[in-house]
Amino acid sequence: MRVLGIETSCDETGVALYDTERGLLADALYSQVAMHADFGGVVPELASRDHVRRLLPLIEQVLDEAGIGRDGIDAIAYTAGPGLIGALMVGAATAHGLARALEVPVLGVHHMEGHLLAPMLEPSPPEFPFVALLVSGGHTQLIDVTALGDYRLLGESVDDAAGEAFDKVAKMLGLSYPGGPAVAELANRGDPTRLRFPRPMTDRPGLDFSFSGLKTHTLTALRALDAGGELDDQARADVARAFEEAVVDTLIIKCRRALEHSARSRLVAAGGVSANRRLRERLEPGLRKSVANAQVFYPRGSFCTDNGAMIAYAGALRLAAGEHDPAGPRLTARWPL
Ligand code: KG4
Ligand code: ZN
Repeated sequence: MRVLGIETSCDETGVALYDTERGLLADALYSQVAMHADFGGVVPELASRDHVRRLLPLIEQVLDEAGIGRDGIDAIAYTAGPGLIGALMVGAATAHGLARALEVPVLGVHHMEGHLLAPMLEPSPPEFPFVALLVSGGHTQLIDVTALGDYRLLGESVDDAAGEAFDKVAKMLGLSYPGGPAVAELANRGDPTRLRFPRPMTDRPGLDFSFSGLKTHTLTALRALDAGGELDDQARADVARAFEEAVVDTLIIKCRRALEHSARSRLVAAGGVSANRRLRERLEPGLRKSVANAQVFYPRGSFCTDNGAMIAYAGALRLAAGEHDPAGPRLTARWPL
């Protein structure tokens, strides 16, 4: 079965074609990042309008790349939430219109399930069960995954998501949107020994996260350096490094605890922040301090952030199991996994 996947939940238009026998046939992405950068964040109305402009040409591009005509599409999957409702509507309406015209089944899938399953598109995919760390701009969650659709929330952020904290700290440092990669790049030049920021909520039991206080701590540190006339380029880099170290350490501590509590050895890390290089270097060794055979699975870099391939894949698994939208599109801006 060949499934066309459509992702339009935020500021990336993603399209891909996944074949349940041959794997991923083609994928294409149009990022709106440059358009939103002037505003320091995603402007929902501009995002919707740009999805309208980009989506159909991207679908044509993917079909061309795969060497397949429209009649080669057996089913369609689209992101039904969570996300910006106007942006989601573009993908859903296109998916349903196309499915009606081609007389194929169509299914709305959960964006975070797409992220969670994305490592399964890689050459050595994880087997169930595993613990998933979902770290994106909107979510920071630890989930116990026993099978497709069998998800139990172990912990989540009580305030800001990790990616959101990266984006806000980037703004404080005068860096461009999206902040994660910019903060990480600046942090590379930072001295890890100059400043030490707190690792929030790690000194008490539990698997929840909080990144709002760390963000305030970062602002306070920047103001103190500024007041002392010390806020030069090196100091900015040192702050970026202290912030990144604190987020990475916090994520590792909670992931280790989650593996211990659930007696699992496999961890899947997915979502935009899982692209972070320092996290990738340290996560597996950090877990092995207490879980000797711990193994971490990531999507490739380009599938950490939003993409059509993860939606095509998640949709393919569910469509193959006989699921499809009974009537028209169903969209949910806020939707627990
Ligand atoms: O998964 P994603 O593309 O979109 C959401 O579903 O939210 O994640 C985007 C988030 C942004 O907050 C971005 O700053 C962060 O992921 N991000 C990073 C890195 N690359 C992207 N954060 C830290 N380090 C990175 N290398
Ligand atoms: Zn996402």
